[in-house]
Amino acid sequence: MKLWEGRFSKEIDKKTNDFNSSIPFDQRMAVQDITGSLAHAAMLTAQGIISPADGEAIADGLAGILEDLQSGALVIDQNAEDIHTFVEQTLTARIGDAGKRLHTGRSRNDQVALDVRLYLREQVTALRAQLVELADVLADKAEQYAETIMPGYTHMQRAQPITFGHHLLAYAEMLLRDIGRLDDAYRRMNVSPLGSGALAGTTYPLDREAVAHTLGMAGVTRNSLDGVSDRDFCVELAAALSLVMVHLSRFSEEIILWCSWEFRFIELDDAFSTGSSIMPQKKNPDIAELVRGKSGRVFGDLMALLTALKGLPLAYNKDMQEDKEAIFDACDTVRMCLTAFTPMIETMTVKADNMRKAAAGGFINATDCADYLVSKGLPFRDAYKATGSLVALCIAEGKTLETLSLEQYRGVCDLFDTDVFDAISLERCVAGRNVIGGPSPDNVRKQAAAVKEILKA
Ligand code: ARG
Repeated sequence: MKLWEGRFSKEIDKKTNDFNSSIPFDQRMAVQDITGSLAHAAMLTAQGIISPADGEAIADGLAGILEDLQSGALVIDQNAEDIHTFVEQTLTARIGDAGKRLHTGRSRNDQVALDVRLYLREQVTALRAQLVELADVLADKAEQYAETIMPGYTHMQRAQPITFGHHLLAYAEMLLRDIGRLDDAYRRMNVSPLGSGALAGTTYPLDREAVAHTLGMAGVTRNSLDGVSDRDFCVELAAALSLVMVHLSRFSEEIILWCSWEFRFIELDDAFSTGSSIMPQKKNPDIAELVRGKSGRVFGDLMALLTALKGLPLAYNKDMQEDKEAIFDACDTVRMCLTAFTPMIETMTVKADNMRKAAAGGFINATDCADYLVSKGLPFRDAYKATGSLVALCIAEGKTLETLSLEQYRGVCDLFDTDVFDAISLERCVAGRNVIGGPSPDNVRKQAAAVKEILKA
């Protein structure tokens, strides 16, 4: 039976009903739908729009439905058009006429807009907690590896010495921005559209603020047309989650490189790796690869939302039913990724010796060698050129800057002295990079503490 049966003389075609129905994906909002209805009914009663007896019957009926859904005694009818219809029809079947009064002064258009906001509000809270957890793990690890020297890269070429802790904190910074974006999205989704009606508000004396207050929302939407047709909060969340996936995907890419035998900077725990069906030696970083791969889904969800909305006239159009699968998938995907990713990072083994060896082999102290000459009075451009000749000499002779003789240094520039070897030691090079944001162990400890401080706030 349809909500609109008065106007129609026959049932909807069965396959078309399946096409039209959103129950397979909006049933996950059952709790939020009931929560919204409880608040609406309480307000209708308080405003004298429905009788206290009806209000009570509705409240008891809805509580019973919630309980039965949770216990499994009530199964959601997959032929219902959507979760709103299912709850209302079940209520009416259980309590009779009072159930038919619940929808007074309300439309499914403002109802669904509310339910999605309530549902996503919880998702944001859960996702935020996961991001905080990962950032916290990174800050801990950064402290642990504050002194672990590794090569920093540009163009995937060894560039300058950094510390592993410093590298990890770069990702912590990205996560802090992600958390900020989720907080921002939360603020805008946390207002109640109830009372917008189908599009033009309602003539009933609703107390919209009271409903918002009951639901823990910060206020009410200001324009009824916008109230029912705004899905910006879905787009904002999908965009914020897309950036989360960009960050996780870049991190995954590095994890994958680092556990290759070409790098061997880290080893993943067996519990977060997989083997090969044919090659007995293999230990594969599947989790990181899947996270990298799943980023595409979330970007796709964002694109689907933007595209669904971009041509819609005001106010509600059925196209908007497409918001749910996209944003739910984005939330589910990011949640699953973080659930696997964080413990994978937490349990990885860091091969500090291999990092140190790679750092020693790539002339990554060449800038420091040039800076040494600058400290002896040579202009930087000349110092750069002299150091370039030294690197060429090293390559020709299979040496490093550390293993050249002082004579060889002097052959290129007579400003070199024995103290050059100290100046180009990797420990010195890293410790000297003590500017705010730099990789020195002192800085890394300070930055890690700052990250933890922000996470606590
Ligand atoms: N299932 C619908 C949705 O998700 C609920 C709103 C239906 N409103 C309507 N006028 N058909 O958007």
